[in-house]
Amino acid sequence: MDSLCVLIMAAGKGTRMKSATPKVLQPLLGSPIIDYVISSAASAEIPPENIAVLVGSGGELVEEHITRKFPNVKVLWQHEQLGTGHAVKSAREWWKDYDSLLVLNGDVPLMKPESLRELSSCCEKNDCTIITFEAENPGSYGRIIRGKNSVSIVEYKDASPEQREIHEVNAGCYAFRVKSLLKVIDSITNKNAQNEYYITDALGLMNGAGMTTGALVLPEDEMQGVNTQAELAHVSRDMRMRILSRWMAEGVRMPDPESVYIGVDAELSPDAVIMPNVQIWGKSKIGSGCVVGSGSILTNATLGDNVHIVAYAVIENSTLKDNVKAGPFCYIRDNTVLEAGAFAGKFVELKNSHIGEGSKVPHLSYMGDATLGHDVNIGAGSITCNYDGEKKNKTFIGNNCFIGSDTMLVAPVELADGSATAAGSVITQAVPENALGVGRARQKNIADWSLHNHHHHKTTTEGEK
Ligand code: UD1
Ligand code: CA
Repeated sequence: MDSLCVLIMAAGKGTRMKSATPKVLQPLLGSPIIDYVISSAASAEIPPENIAVLVGSGGELVEEHITRKFPNVKVLWQHEQLGTGHAVKSAREWWKDYDSLLVLNGDVPLMKPESLRELSSCCEKNDCTIITFEAENPGSYGRIIRGKNSVSIVEYKDASPEQREIHEVNAGCYAFRVKSLLKVIDSITNKNAQNEYYITDALGLMNGAGMTTGALVLPEDEMQGVNTQAELAHVSRDMRMRILSRWMAEGVRMPDPESVYIGVDAELSPDAVIMPNVQIWGKSKIGSGCVVGSGSILTNATLGDNVHIVAYAVIENSTLKDNVKAGPFCYIRDNTVLEAGAFAGKFVELKNSHIGEGSKVPHLSYMGDATLGHDVNIGAGSITCNYDGEKKNKTFIGNNCFIGSDTMLVAPVELADGSATAAGSVITQAVPENALGVGRARQKNIADWSLHNHHHHKTTTEGEK
């Protein structure tokens, strides 16, 4: 079989974004633009070793990102950005020994893997095939000039007024037979309105040399490029709707998709219900029958089946197993695990804690660095005092414990199975099995302290002034 490689061009400055962040690292639904292009190539079954990203302007950041997230994807450098033709040429040593080369603009994130596959299959019939689309507003895209059996591209800045009227435009994705491209690439010049080397000139040169060129026409919404913040917002919206439609097709219920954000890497199950104004990011997983209530923001959250998040929960890097109930108004973070049937209620924060099966933290509590056994009940207002000003200390609470309301658990501290604390206690020592820890001042009553007398006395004093 013929060998194929993909070169993603991402060395340009992205001047029109007016941002210090390189264009391809700008976030689109929580992930950098470039990730979508790489993922779409990967989904088209192109092995990562055959994918290279060409970086330049802001390249250190882009390289760092790619090396971390796609370690097998190659990073190549274009030190001076002299145009897309120069970009392809500067990577020649890498692609020259393949049979076919796909060149993709790094700023076209909505392209589908099946389109990429279709483009690569065009190498069988043409020396070069480009993707085009009918643009409603062709703006500054390169215009397509169709010959009898050929296509070529004229850049907007070089186009005549008549050519500017053309609505079929270049998407910036090309499939080349490598042998054919090698014959023309050194003939590309920068004699044009922008004094840049254009890859788009390769088509005219190929036509002149009797090679075959063709176009694959795709829908506009898939091929939009990102050059400005407004275009990024537009593309984000389209990508968001694509993701939501996919999950709805899989049986996820969403009464108001217009207000829901789900990132590309999240996974949902049939019969999950996502209420209005919910955001689900990162590698979150939502089991079947879960309800994610309004105003909740989940990042890398794993929900088992039938988890019920009432509303306004923020959950980060944590796991809620089957039948857990959470919210309204809770914050669950840093590798917290709630075992099956556990409950985190109103105004509760859980940090790096393990909450055993069926255990309940119903109101106004902070559990940090705590391990709770099964069937524990934490009374309202109880907290772990886990930070001594220097380090974080651990709290262990055994099975079937009952923590009275407003208990301060001064960590490190351990409560054995079946133990309890009296309301209002400050617990600084271990509580043995089945014991009650009482750590509070005894109540004393001061006799004859009537509010009336007290008030009267005060008034008299003031009257003497
Ligand atoms: C390019 C095409 C245009 C097409 C449009 C589609 C050219 C000459 N024009 O224009 O026909 O309609 O894309 O979106 O190719 N890049 C480099 N090195 C460089 C210059 C650019 O890597 O020296 C990269 C950029 O980072 C970007 C891509 O190439 O990802 C396209 O560059 P850009 O400047 O956005 O080209 P357009 O003006 O959009
Ligand atoms: Ca562009």
